[in-house]
Amino acid sequence: VAILVLNGPNLNTLGKREPGVYGTLTLDMINERIYARGEALGATVECFQSNHEGALIDCIQQHAEQVDGIIINPGAFTHYSYAIRDALAAAKLPIIEVHLSNVYAREAFRHHSVIAPICLGQIAGLGWRGYLLALEALVADLQEDK
Ligand code: DQA
Repeated sequence: VAILVLNGPNLNTLGKREPGVYGTLTLDMINERIYARGEALGATVECFQSNHEGALIDCIQQHAEQVDGIIINPGAFTHYSYAIRDALAAAKLPIIEVHLSNVYAREAFRHHSVIAPICLGQIAGLGWRGYLLALEALVADLQEDK
């Protein structure tokens, strides 16, 4: 199976950005762990990050027919990007939303996700491990369907 892992705005600064909230690992370090787990699971993984809504949408459109599932941490776009939601819905793929922080324990504007209703599920508050848990769940879900 092939999985696309997307990270949205400001996640390129992980490691430096509010480490008490988001952890001390950089995105490259997290991605290395994702690639390693993908290999262990026999899955092909591609990771992409952008600070730009349109670039994320282009990436979703370009990969929609090439991958079997998507893992996405949309960053702040989670809370208001109907455009990313529409692109994900159009891809007609199983999607898992990941947040490093427990968004429900934070500001009220972070409690609502416009992406979550079109997802298989959501993982929040488990830090970088959330991506690996999402990968395991998505690969297992896809293999079960076959
Ligand atoms: C985040 C939570 C969002 O509210 C925030 O805007 C982010 C990161 C997380 O991973 O916890 O950029 O998606």
